[in-house]
Amino acid sequence: MSNNLLQGKRGIIFGALDENSIAWKVAERCHEEGATFVLTNAPVAMRLGGIQQLAEKTGSEIIPADATSMEDLEQLFTQAMDKLGGPLDFVLHSIGMSPNVRKNKGYTELKHDWYLKTMDVSAASFHKTMQTAWKLDAMNDWGSILGLSYIAAQRTFPSYNDMADAKALLESIARSFGYWFGKEKKVRVNTISQSPTPTTAGTGVKGFDTFLSYADKMSPIGNAPGEACADYCVAMFSDLTRYVTMQNLYHDGGFSSTGVSEAIMDMVGGNE
Ligand SMILES: NC(=O)c1ccc[n+]([C@@H]2O[C@H](COP(=O)([O-])OP(=O)(O)OC[C@H]3O[C@@H](n4cnc5c(N)ncnc54)[C@H](O)[C@@H]3O)[C@@H](O)[C@H]2O)c1
Repeated sequence: MSNNLLQGKRGIIFGALDENSIAWKVAERCHEEGATFVLTNAPVAMRLGGIQQLAEKTGSEIIPADATSMEDLEQLFTQAMDKLGGPLDFVLHSIGMSPNVRKNKGYTELKHDWYLKTMDVSAASFHKTMQTAWKLDAMNDWGSILGLSYIAAQRTFPSYNDMADAKALLESIARSFGYWFGKEKKVRVNTISQSPTPTTAGTGVKGFDTFLSYADKMSPIGNAPGEACADYCVAMFSDLTRYVTMQNLYHDGGFSSTGVSEAIMDMVGGNE
């Protein structure tokens, strides 16, 4: 399905690791809609996934960059503009990682140097990305920048651990930088708060399958799949959403507005 919604638009897509990655699906959809873009991921991720395959499929170049390194980011934006032939219209930040989650350190016993790493990789990197784009004047007027979030920024999901704090910071950065980018360049900055999705980052969270099934039963429309998230990203990169900015946009089948569903009532036995 293509409506040429992104015809002529140029961008950078962070975070496609393998074909389950949300960023992978976004890249496929952006390609279908006529965009050209550079793919990027941490240098270590180059060996792990299949990003080369995605690059071939979408006719894209890969420029490795650690999103916590200002030097890497500066090179990335400079080279991307060079390869794509000018400033950018969209950026997707699809990055998350917590050493505490990975190594099973619960919220009441966090290792704090790991906590700082979580914040740096999963949230501050969004600021670093935008600061780099700002400094290099790398965004076209009416461009669109997106980060991906999760509802644990608003409500507690115990096993989401320190990633909840990172998402709260990520959403705040979207609002704060959205102000400056909006005033200066009419560039919009938003986060999309996505349903649980079976990806490498997602399944790293303890009890993910139960989590996924609970969210599905709580959401009137059901969990939003990664493919639908990619559609939403395309809409947010297109010219049809030019005045939506500084928002955290729920893409969750109604989960965030549901107190309890009949399916959950049945499960806990209170619906007789
Ligand atoms: N999967 C879910 O349930 C879910 C739900 C809501 C939001 N999200 C968010 O979506 C985004 C994408 O995650 P995903 O679920 O597609 O998982 P994923 O594991 O496929 O993607 C995470 C990406 O972050 C990259 N990354 C890690 N450290 C990096 C660094 N230093 N520099 C550059 N890149 C780095 C990884 O290489 C990987 O490509 C994340 O922000 C995640 O928190 C995921």
